[in-house]
Amino acid sequence: MDPHKLRWPLPKHDYWSTPFAESLLQHLHLRTDLQILDIACGHGIPAFYLAEQVGPGGEILAIDLSAGQVARARAIQGSHLPWLRFECMDMRALPPNLPTFDRITGNLSVMFFRPNRFEAVRGLLQQLNSGGQLVLTFPSYGTFDSLWQRVDQSMSELGLTGERERFQTYLNERPSAQEGQTWLEKLGLERVEAIEYPLEVATGPGPEFLHHPLLRGGFLDDVYECFEDQSLAEEFMTKISQDIHSFTPLIAQRCVLSGWEKSAGSP
Ligand SMILES: C[S@@+](CC[C@H](N)C(=O)[O-])C[C@H]1O[C@@H](n2cnc3c(N)ncnc32)[C@H](O)[C@@H]1O
Repeated sequence: MDPHKLRWPLPKHDYWSTPFAESLLQHLHLRTDLQILDIACGHGIPAFYLAEQVGPGGEILAIDLSAGQVARARAIQGSHLPWLRFECMDMRALPPNLPTFDRITGNLSVMFFRPNRFEAVRGLLQQLNSGGQLVLTFPSYGTFDSLWQRVDQSMSELGLTGERERFQTYLNERPSAQEGQTWLEKLGLERVEAIEYPLEVATGPGPEFLHHPLLRGGFLDDVYECFEDQSLAEEFMTKISQDIHSFTPLIAQRCVLSGWEKSAGSP
């Protein structure tokens, strides 16, 4: 489809979900009439785009745990694209009566597969048709490493031992591209790929950094959680926010995990 004629393009002014979705779409084999399950759909990136591409002969089930996100997506949808349905569901525990799909997509999804990411992927694959493709994205290990090194160095200099231990646990818990690739291979998928694309996230110093809509909710809150004393956390993070030159540019790694279920009849 001519990108200039799209009625449901990826939002241009979204500097996080859209670049991740673009890398997902680079690896997704998309055509009309496909049945797609889009997990962790939020308010519809990339579900609306997918629905327009598969057309009325296809079907998209887009699921999210948050009733608020589903309500928002349905409000955006109105009566358009009736072959796209938004439902409230936990992608780690899908209902047994769910049909199977030709594609499973999940933009910015893998980090929410906790506590057992491998089992979550195994559960998803039960919903994938033979010959079908799974494509997931997430910010992989290495994302914002310059910031994490700065945080760790300051914690060490200030003797914040407990905070530093909790911080290390947080860092070690992040999934890597390699780990993702291993899950898909162990689960028997074919043509497995785990590819990373760097993405710079721009920020200014001080409050712009501390209240950055992406950094705060998705990442900085995790550092605050390492502190029992929240006023100490505020003081610590304020100092770091005044020194952004020591850790910018901030680079995220957009990881795309892709693999194919064996076709029926293949060995
Ligand atoms: C970072 S957002 C991504 C949303 C959308 N795909 C996008 O690219 O903008 C992650 C979404 O995952 C949802 N989520 C978190 N845990 C979930 C779960 N266990 N099952 C389904 N959705 C979940 C959240 O509610 C949130 O909407």
